[in-house]
Amino acid sequence: MSDHIPQLNSHGEPDLEAAFATLAAEVRTEAAALTTPDAQEAFRLHWLGRKQGRLKLISDAWLKSAPAEARKPLGIRFNQLKQQIEQALEAPLATASTAAVQGIDVTLPGAIRTPGIPHPLLKTMQEIVQVFHHLGYSTNLGPQVETDFYNFEALNFPPNHPARDTQDTLQIAHQSSKPSRDRLLMRTHTSPVQIRTMVAQAPPIRIVIPGKVHRNDAADATHSPIFHQVEGLCVDTNITFSDLKGTLDHAMKALFGSDVKTRFFPSFFPFTEPSADVQISCIFCGGKGCRKCKHSGWIELLGCGMVDPAVFAAVTEERRKTNPADDTYNPERITGFAFGMGVERIAMIQHGISDIGHFYSGDMRFLEQFA
Ligand code: DAH
Repeated sequence: MSDHIPQLNSHGEPDLEAAFATLAAEVRTEAAALTTPDAQEAFRLHWLGRKQGRLKLISDAWLKSAPAEARKPLGIRFNQLKQQIEQALEAPLATASTAAVQGIDVTLPGAIRTPGIPHPLLKTMQEIVQVFHHLGYSTNLGPQVETDFYNFEALNFPPNHPARDTQDTLQIAHQSSKPSRDRLLMRTHTSPVQIRTMVAQAPPIRIVIPGKVHRNDAADATHSPIFHQVEGLCVDTNITFSDLKGTLDHAMKALFGSDVKTRFFPSFFPFTEPSADVQISCIFCGGKGCRKCKHSGWIELLGCGMVDPAVFAAVTEERRKTNPADDTYNPERITGFAFGMGVERIAMIQHGISDIGHFYSGDMRFLEQFA
């Protein structure tokens, strides 16, 4: 640290500027080398000490001889310098490597960069998709802003039908002048991509559809207005309910371990007939019954069923707009199964997470556990 009091050649602007620039540079260099609280205290005394502090000594030397009109520009610059010193004192202590910038130490390790990791939801979604890729499925995507036709009507939810109440829908504003089938909404499930796929291509179809879906649901520990699903569709000749059972039983074993058992429970979805809910034996208690499975030994995971002939009829009607003789999806020849699962629910069970909100909070303490 220099104790020398620099000479101020004149009170002209260029001389003032140069003199204070030199002092500011001194402060910067010294501040960058403050690696211990002791060094910081010495720095404080050196610059701000009440009697022998450098700022006090320089101010005495420069201000006393200054003509009246030079006091203001001098005063402003002293204040700026003082602020710079105070900021240096408030800043966290320099690490050895930043202190070494003045004389670069090439033996120090480089700065560690932490690479990003896939978000746990994305990881689970990719895992599910992978299981089906291995079975020969490919991936299809569709829009999140969807028409009423694809989201509901073609899936056999007629306008005003109570089945629509099961999916509380976020409608896009100012659509009432359009015919009901063209009105836009946020898709409530990934199932509309089944229709988009079948309208565009002929069987055999084996696809999975991962993506975001939206519902007008209040957020709580198990609900979020935006969440994720993976949909599946298999359409071909001679597809039966036992193909559906075998496929999903395999998928659940691949995701949760080969010990899990599956059970198919009668259910209802407008676009499948028959429909089923798939349950897996509780992975927490092995099926004995615990709090997690509400003492039933089973956990409900996804919906599925055989594609309803009404869905094939809607697809055919659409395809006939470009080819009036189209008979590709004749339900006498073609059958299929479909399924849909919630990614959050599966990730929560995989990792034992009790609040869906953790996925969206951005809390690094939560996310880093999946690194
Ligand atoms: N789309 C349904 C929902 O969001 C889930 C579903 C059930 C999809 C059965 C399917 C299915 O493809 O066959 O509630």
